[in-house]
Amino acid sequence: MERKTVTTTAYADQKPGTSGLRKKVRVFQQPHYLENFVQSIFDAIAVEGETFGDKTLVLGGDGRFYNEQASQTILRMAAANGFARVIVGRDGLLSTPAASHLIRKYRAFGGIILSASHNPGGPDADFGIKFNAANGGPAQEGLTDSIFRHSREIGEYHILEAADVDIHQAGSRQLADLQIEVVDPVADYAALMQQLFDFERIRELLTAGTYSLYFDAMNAVTGPYAEAILQQLGADPGSVLRGQPLPDFGGEHPDPNPAHAQDLMRLMNGQQAGDFGAASDGDGDRNMILGANFYVTPSDSLAVLAANATLVPGYRQGLAGVARSMPTSQAVDRVAETLGIPCFETPTGWKFFGNLLDAGKISLCGEESFGTGSDHVREKDGLWAVLFWLNILAARQEPVAAIVQQHWQRYGRNYYTRHDYEAVATDAAQALVEGLRQQTGSWCGQRFGDHEIELADDFSYTDPIDGSVSERQGVRLLLRGGARIVYRLSGTGTEGATLRVYVESPEPDPAQQAKDPQDALAELISLSREVARIDHFTGRVGPDVVT
Ligand code: G1P
Ligand code: ZN
Repeated sequence: MERKTVTTTAYADQKPGTSGLRKKVRVFQQPHYLENFVQSIFDAIAVEGETFGDKTLVLGGDGRFYNEQASQTILRMAAANGFARVIVGRDGLLSTPAASHLIRKYRAFGGIILSASHNPGGPDADFGIKFNAANGGPAQEGLTDSIFRHSREIGEYHILEAADVDIHQAGSRQLADLQIEVVDPVADYAALMQQLFDFERIRELLTAGTYSLYFDAMNAVTGPYAEAILQQLGADPGSVLRGQPLPDFGGEHPDPNPAHAQDLMRLMNGQQAGDFGAASDGDGDRNMILGANFYVTPSDSLAVLAANATLVPGYRQGLAGVARSMPTSQAVDRVAETLGIPCFETPTGWKFFGNLLDAGKISLCGEESFGTGSDHVREKDGLWAVLFWLNILAARQEPVAAIVQQHWQRYGRNYYTRHDYEAVATDAAQALVEGLRQQTGSWCGQRFGDHEIELADDFSYTDPIDGSVSERQGVRLLLRGGARIVYRLSGTGTEGATLRVYVESPEPDPAQQAKDPQDALAELISLSREVARIDHFTGRVGPDVVT
């Protein structure tokens, strides 16, 4: 085994987005592409005057195409860069929340997670890589900027010349001086879930009568996790759909929303509908929650979890505070007001919750994009959300729909929708947002029909813990009465630009809370198109995806 230093030339496009570096597999397969980025991570995290000789890394991914090959390369590079130890999930698998937990539990220096989340997998689809820091959370902007800077200046990387390591069985291996610990990807995570939730009570719910539960793992990483944990809870073995992780996710988008979980939607709708349904994404951090003939929006889900948290052992003491990303609906704000706890509004992306969680300012947080989580790890966590719901259902003994409807009656309903315009020409999308930015100043006080704009701005966030400022995080139109329209461009896409338009309107009157959100929000939706001249810039007559 020989340690080699390889001369390389920089790629200009290795700028991490909302959640790490995501590109087509073919981009990652270019000579030295992966190696350049991994070396840039190592160079960026290196502390002046220190080696990696006493440091541990965690490594794992969602099992998508290129996961195994990339894992082997990273192990060889970790060895050549002098790390002491790498803890790697068996078969190179670790869900994102499980990786976050392992980093924290074993006090690792950080972790490398191989995933493009809910994007499709396969030789012609997407791959991704991100670095999580010692707190278990996604690297902060300062670090991702530094990784990008290193990637633009890189001239060489270090790698061991060696055969592949067996990562298909748990146990210790040695690669030159590097100790490799291949671990069961599920065990530590399952133990953490057992600490947080009342497994006995959930087991009673699932085994007492005819309760039917379906979990769609979408042929992605959560299959083995759900099978192990739900089996422990006494769920029927048929409860887990698409439980086998596949490199191409069976050719589907592993994205837990109604459009991509059609079998689950069928099982959860109609006369024979199941009692509780859920799905998680490629890397296991997202979740979708369903009741019989009932869809729970992620924003409502966060609010319901917050309102019912003390029914769950891990949160029995109450919540320190909550946080949501700016475009997420304000439903959780109402709960925080009632509980008398702080509610923080952060930019899109889980990394912005990290400091608040580390400082103990918040216990729960979430995003409208099917992300919910808590201070138990530093990532959003799909199965955790499922177990949280099951714990609430077991404690309250009421159907999902009844719980959400009672919630609306008490706190008001926030009608909410997101319209996505995908693969828009990048220039046109940027011109649209730039145009909005320039007009924000002139909009305050302006009326459009019945609607008056109270405030228009481009959201800027000052982190209350470290004072760092993140600007240009999305254009907001705040209307009198609490309605909002928000525009931003996606930071996770791999083709062209995706324009996201978020529309929200509060409805305190219980008699008006049973509408279809697209109907309830129809006027605001057309206003959102008009104000931003979406047709003009995108040439589209309607959105590609509505959630
Ligand atoms: C999307 C979601 C965002 C989430 C991110 C990673 O980012 O909108 O909430 O944190 O994926 O899962 P976007 O593509 O909008 O930048
Ligand atoms: Zn994900």
